[in-house]
Amino acid sequence: MLRYTVLTLFPRLIQPWTEEALLAKAIQRGLIQIDIRDIRDYAPGKHRQVDDYPYGGGAGMVLRPDVVLGAIEDQLPADEVILLTPAGEPFRQPLAEELAAKEHLVLVSGRYEGIDARVENFVTREVSIGDFVLMGGEVAALAVIEATARLVPGVLGDPESHRLDSFSWGLLDYPQYTRPPEFRGLKVPEVLTSGHHGKVAEWRRREALRRTLERRPELLKSAPLTEEDLRWLAELDEEAE
Ligand SMILES: C[S@@+](CC[C@H](N)C(=O)[O-])C[C@H]1O[C@@H](n2cnc3c(N)ncnc32)[C@H](O)[C@@H]1O
Repeated sequence: MLRYTVLTLFPRLIQPWTEEALLAKAIQRGLIQIDIRDIRDYAPGKHRQVDDYPYGGGAGMVLRPDVVLGAIEDQLPADEVILLTPAGEPFRQPLAEELAAKEHLVLVSGRYEGIDARVENFVTREVSIGDFVLMGGEVAALAVIEATARLVPGVLGDPESHRLDSFSWGLLDYPQYTRPPEFRGLKVPEVLTSGHHGKVAEWRRREALRRTLERRPELLKSAPLTEEDLRWLAELDEEAE
């Protein structure tokens, strides 16, 4: 069982996401648990003020360290306390795999200009879901949940389906097709309807290499490639010339 606690100022942004589709099923079946805590509940005083002006001036407001840390400490012990921030380490599949093997993840979503930097001393990681700036960390927290929950054994009907996903084997996924066999003049590659499993597997590997070479060539540097892959890549290079 993988338990997530999301700390947010907007619990109602997270809640509906947990009530549909595979996440809802995984929760129902006791494979994961998602708790949502309102950071505002940890703000002192009648006004429950969660933010304050930035030292040094400038636009916007900053989340107070005492309030955010109060929310974090209420969740300890946890295997990981993850601060969602555009300044964090990039969230990639290997990190999703590492996190999916834990038991309790605390996901801290910022808002406004972000969280007082001193809170960084009390988290185990800072994670970014990409080189862009969101309005808040909720979508980032949900991205981490989506990417990790599907790796928890039993969450996906067929465990094979994530073994061959994009990134899981270091390459982009091969193209997928379903019926009809011809659509708007575009035919499904013949090999896929041949019933020859060996040839299908070979075609898929080759197409995954082709896509990766064309779209994300930098991934090839760290992908585990066989001698045959390297031969195919050389052929694809020649084809392109
Ligand atoms: C408007 S952003 C603050 C951006 C901050 N001033 C900066 O430039 O780094 C508010 C919150 O959204 C979340 N956020 C925004 N972009 C993100 C990203 N790419 N990955 C993860 N979290 C992000 C963070 O939790 C952040 O505290």
